[in-house]
Amino acid sequence: MARPQLPFRTDHPKLMQARERLADVVYPGGLQSYFRLYQQGRRADGGVAEPGADLELAAVAQRTAAASSVLTLDGPLVRDLTGRITDEQRAELLERLTPDQRGLWDSAAGTPYQPILAVTFGLFHDVPGIAEATGLHKAMPPADVHAMAHVAQATGGDLGYADAVDQLLTKAGVPIGDGTRVLDFGCSSGRVARVLAAYHPGATFHGCDPNGPAIAWAQEHLPEVSFFQSPQRPPVDLPDGSLDAAYAISIWSHFNAEPGLLWLAEMARLIRSGGAIVFSTHGFQSIATRAARGESWSGALVQAADDMYTSGFSFFNPFGEDGDWGVVDADWGMAFLTPEWLMPRIQDEWFVDAFHPAALEGDQDLWVLRRR
Ligand SMILES: C[S@@+](CC[C@H](N)C(=O)[O-])C[C@H]1O[C@@H](n2cnc3c(N)ncnc32)[C@H](O)[C@@H]1O
Repeated sequence: MARPQLPFRTDHPKLMQARERLADVVYPGGLQSYFRLYQQGRRADGGVAEPGADLELAAVAQRTAAASSVLTLDGPLVRDLTGRITDEQRAELLERLTPDQRGLWDSAAGTPYQPILAVTFGLFHDVPGIAEATGLHKAMPPADVHAMAHVAQATGGDLGYADAVDQLLTKAGVPIGDGTRVLDFGCSSGRVARVLAAYHPGATFHGCDPNGPAIAWAQEHLPEVSFFQSPQRPPVDLPDGSLDAAYAISIWSHFNAEPGLLWLAEMARLIRSGGAIVFSTHGFQSIATRAARGESWSGALVQAADDMYTSGFSFFNPFGEDGDWGVVDADWGMAFLTPEWLMPRIQDEWFVDAFHPAALEGDQDLWVLRRR
């Protein structure tokens, strides 16, 4: 029998507990510059900013976001992998950095990002022993294959995101270990799964995405993960209860309401009872942050804010006929939702283990759900 739909309470003990836990994962400085620099190789949004972005609100937003980020860059995974780099390897690396790379290296001094750079730049420059020590390797998707970044500092994958997923699953009571079965849903060319697979060689990782070229590249270059091309709508070709955990970075932030809910139901089919999913959505904070960045679709953001206040959900499609890197789907665009909208729709199958508002790069909210 369906559970009665409960109103969402922002003072719910579980949420309060989640907020308190944030204290464990705060890294108060350096994140903004990390992401700005990391993302230099991304597509630009293009277009001209419309006036009217509320910069003061956005500034508050950025501070809140930095204080609540789950991307600490210094969790166990990062510390372990970066701790395998020797002084000799670091010295060798400094000989090989280009002047621009050296500038980035110097600007990251004293932050947890510099040890990450020792790994990614070290792989990029083939510093002897780094690939062997970390289990990572330098295969890099070419510019015409989808990836969140195509720059030297992204070589080997994204240690920061892998670390965040690893920490969140551990806190949710579903730590990745030998025999754990994990899906990266919407994995693109595998930047996160490749790092988790290197760190947890005894676990099984699947990665899926409808982007054919990204999956083809990953299948050829990242044998440590089992990749397959997934459809725009469920199901995927995996058995019921065959996963302990899944994660999806910047995926539910793009689904219109119906496919978003269908895909959460599909995750509930795939994930065993007690298992967990980590995923991100756009919320109020995303609207403020994106408006302040002057994204080309600022006008649509005003409508999104209105929709959020009135119905708790908003969707528009800025990708048009060409789709998102060739993935064409009218129901794949920019989605914004409130916890009040989502929770009553999913609570028969999931409970919320943690909700971190604006925890991803000052933009997306982060959810950890456990399968009932
Ligand atoms: C913003 S990217 C994030 C990629 C990856 N999660 C990461 O963090 O590197 C969004 C990804 O979602 C993929 N995507 C598009 N439609 C999808 C769908 N129906 N199901 C799963 N992924 C989808 C895109 O192809 C793209 O790779």
